[in-house]
Amino acid sequence: MPGMKNYEIAVIPGDGTGPEVIREGRKVLEAAGKRSGINLSFEYFDFGGQRFLDTGQTIKDSEIDELRKFKAIYLGAIGNPEVAPGILELGILLRLRFSLDQYINLRPVKLYPGVECPLKDKGPDDIDFIVVRENTGGLYTGHGGTSRKGSINEVATQVMVYDRQMVDRCLKYSFELATERKREGKPGKLTLINKTNILAYVGDLWFRAFMEMKEDYPQIETDYNHIDAACMWMVKNPEWFDVIVTPNMFGDIITDLGAMIQGGMGIAAGGNINPQGASMFEPIGGSAPKYTGMNMINPLAAIEAGRMMLKHLGENEAAGLIEEAVSYACARIKNLSAGRMGYSTSEVGDMVAEHITGNLK
Ligand code: IPM
Ligand code: MN
Repeated sequence: MPGMKNYEIAVIPGDGTGPEVIREGRKVLEAAGKRSGINLSFEYFDFGGQRFLDTGQTIKDSEIDELRKFKAIYLGAIGNPEVAPGILELGILLRLRFSLDQYINLRPVKLYPGVECPLKDKGPDDIDFIVVRENTGGLYTGHGGTSRKGSINEVATQVMVYDRQMVDRCLKYSFELATERKREGKPGKLTLINKTNILAYVGDLWFRAFMEMKEDYPQIETDYNHIDAACMWMVKNPEWFDVIVTPNMFGDIITDLGAMIQGGMGIAAGGNINPQGASMFEPIGGSAPKYTGMNMINPLAAIEAGRMMLKHLGENEAAGLIEEAVSYACARIKNLSAGRMGYSTSEVGDMVAEHITGNLK
């Protein structure tokens, strides 16, 4: 329709159950777009294990350049059991995150009403926080090396790399996010998670940068936890957290813990964000080879990734429609795990999409 807002989305369905969940995610995105007067067009890219097995190719430089033109990329899953571990992870997923400078990995941990939570006596009011995982540095940069390989004197190092501007840009994003959440009626509290008692250099850099920046945000309550203690509090008192900011590897680990307390990988989504560039949204559960092609996997994580994508594009109304519909679906689905939902993948996608278009209201 003329005059209608249009967004071009790059889609990487990827491996395993990726294509199935992306299909449902697209269904829901289109429903939300229709209801809120925006048009979405999708351009598909075939990166993944199958293409690698067929051609030996992960991603070409020219394809990275093509992706730079998109503000949003919608990713299913990368991972194939027939490919040696590390090749696809490094060659596709991390390659995209690094080369597109997606320096924020945003992972909401929100327990929707009706979803079974493994924590005793905790409910949706207690579990509603968001993790800002630094996404381009730290232990993921590949700095380090080995010598005397294969001998009993083999030496290996893997260096946690951060510079001040990498830390500052991540903290800045986090303080701004806490400010936005406060505006939305949430606590607006920012917790830095690190390990300053041991990481004398990197931990200290993060801590000092955090203490300096907090002066610019007097309205934001701040806190600090060591990573080990944070794992404990996340299970015992998840209500203490609102926005968490943490280096790459710690963020990788605690967001799996976070995914479990929000109901599991069936619902956990994340965004790899470059606020000035191309951002990529994905369910964080992986390719689930066991369930591939069975119409059994839960598409809600991919649908949630789609919701985050719309929010990132500034389409809050459309994102809100998805949130409501996911909430509706969560209250009906028995269990969020694949095979135990009481519904198939496409039935869950239909339920969410139809709730948005109004048929189920
Ligand atoms: C994730 C994954 C990746 C990571 C792997 C697949 C490289 O675990 O997105 O959390 O460690 O970041
Ligand atoms: Mn992970």
